[in-house]
Amino acid sequence: MKPTQQNHSVAEQLSLIRRIGYSIFPGMARQREKPRGYRHFFNTLILHFRPRAVPERTLRFTLTWGLGGMAVVLVFMLLGTGLLLKFAYEPFPGRAYDSILRLQNEVLFGQLIRNIHHWSANLLLVVVFLHFLRVFFTGAFHPPRQFNWIFGLGLFLTVLLSNFTGYLLPWDQLAYWAITICTGMLEYMPFVGAEVQHWIRSGREIGPATLSNFYAIHTAILPACIIILMAFHFWRVRKAGGLVMPRGPDEDAPSRGETVPTIPNLILREVVVALVLIAIIMAWSVFFNAPLEAKANPGLSPNPTKAPWYFMGFQEMLLHFHPLFALFVIPFLIMFALVSIPYIRYPERTAGVWFVSLKGRRMALVGAVAGTIATPIGILIDEYMIDFVAWVPGVPSAISNGVIPLAIILAGAWGFYSMTKRRYAATKEETVQMIFVFFVTAFVILTVTGIWFRGTAMKLAWP
Ligand code: HEM
Repeated sequence: MKPTQQNHSVAEQLSLIRRIGYSIFPGMARQREKPRGYRHFFNTLILHFRPRAVPERTLRFTLTWGLGGMAVVLVFMLLGTGLLLKFAYEPFPGRAYDSILRLQNEVLFGQLIRNIHHWSANLLLVVVFLHFLRVFFTGAFHPPRQFNWIFGLGLFLTVLLSNFTGYLLPWDQLAYWAITICTGMLEYMPFVGAEVQHWIRSGREIGPATLSNFYAIHTAILPACIIILMAFHFWRVRKAGGLVMPRGPDEDAPSRGETVPTIPNLILREVVVALVLIAIIMAWSVFFNAPLEAKANPGLSPNPTKAPWYFMGFQEMLLHFHPLFALFVIPFLIMFALVSIPYIRYPERTAGVWFVSLKGRRMALVGAVAGTIATPIGILIDEYMIDFVAWVPGVPSAISNGVIPLAIILAGAWGFYSMTKRRYAATKEETVQMIFVFFVTAFVILTVTGIWFRGTAMKLAWP
């Protein structure tokens, strides 16, 4: 028998079986006739990743401010534009800068794509920071969400590293000297500083090997880490039964309450947030170009030489503390404190209440005001009045300019903690939150000072 004849007969047989099936189960025939367009395809696709229904309460915009979703959109915009940039960029010191110029001047929409990548990366840092604050202030770090808090911190670090490794790639003066400053700081790491610095720079100085390693880390390793961590992050949100349930300060913990279908209730909101965000970035990128200074010149350092803006808080600290403390001890203490937040024993859990309680709100404000007043005063006193090294002569500067000022600050923070806890008859959670606000405000002010109030030779100056 010829193959076509055989196919024909198989088709006929199948059609006969189908017709018999339809006569026994008429519902099957009706289902087959239903039109299944792109809408059905997308709905099924979405429901592979999202639950069928979500509690109506968690749809309130003021619970999340759409920040986690915005971070996801920005990550995908970065992956998309990053892939396009790879077609034009050449990761070699002799060619990198010129390839960026060519991209901007000769490639269709090249400048726009670079702008979108640049602004999305910077905005991602801001959005992730705000998302981190909203998670903290709604108490969404309490069990069962404690691991997601840790995954989130991992994501935060990965996003920071992605920004940092990308900073070098244009190979202009800004990039070269900012990365020189940051990797130079590694020297102060105890015992292994020189080795770690040599390893990260892939040599004694920043050069071709540094650029090619940063390129590989930026375009392959870190994107893979972000995608894996994001997958874990969303899985933990599902495992926790969805988002934290919002409630008022005097409300008892609510049950899951009424649920509504994810499509269209949640998806529509997410699409609106995504479209508005994309429109803003596109408009911004049309009008504002990503910076590009002169080609890197290892023999000519700008004055002042500043780290990328998101590390300026640490560079500012470097002006006040021994490098070992500014760059290792204090960041380690910050990380330790952040990881510990969900594991402190709180007598009562207030997950879902913004700022813990009404008193918590007032105390958070006290923390913010105290941080805003104390930090500039501390900077001015250290700049013009106190020289710990001269005041405590004969001891290593790591003690006079590290242990002593840090001990003073921690003792002050402890005094502030005990005093306000007693004065407001506050719970542990309210007081921990106040101290958190105090230090976050202090760090923001250090960053702002470093970016705008430091001039030539890093002296204090008006912007
Ligand atoms: C690239 C970085 C990040 C992305 C893409 C991301 C994305 C998201 C999304 C989409 C959600 C659910 C909706 C929402 O809250 O808006 C979420 C929830 C959550 N995120 Fe993130 N996040 C990131 C970083 C962080 C950071 C830095 C932390 C904190 C250290 C964190 C902790 C959490 C927690 C605990 C939840 C559950 C909140 C709840 O149940 O209400 N995330 N994240």
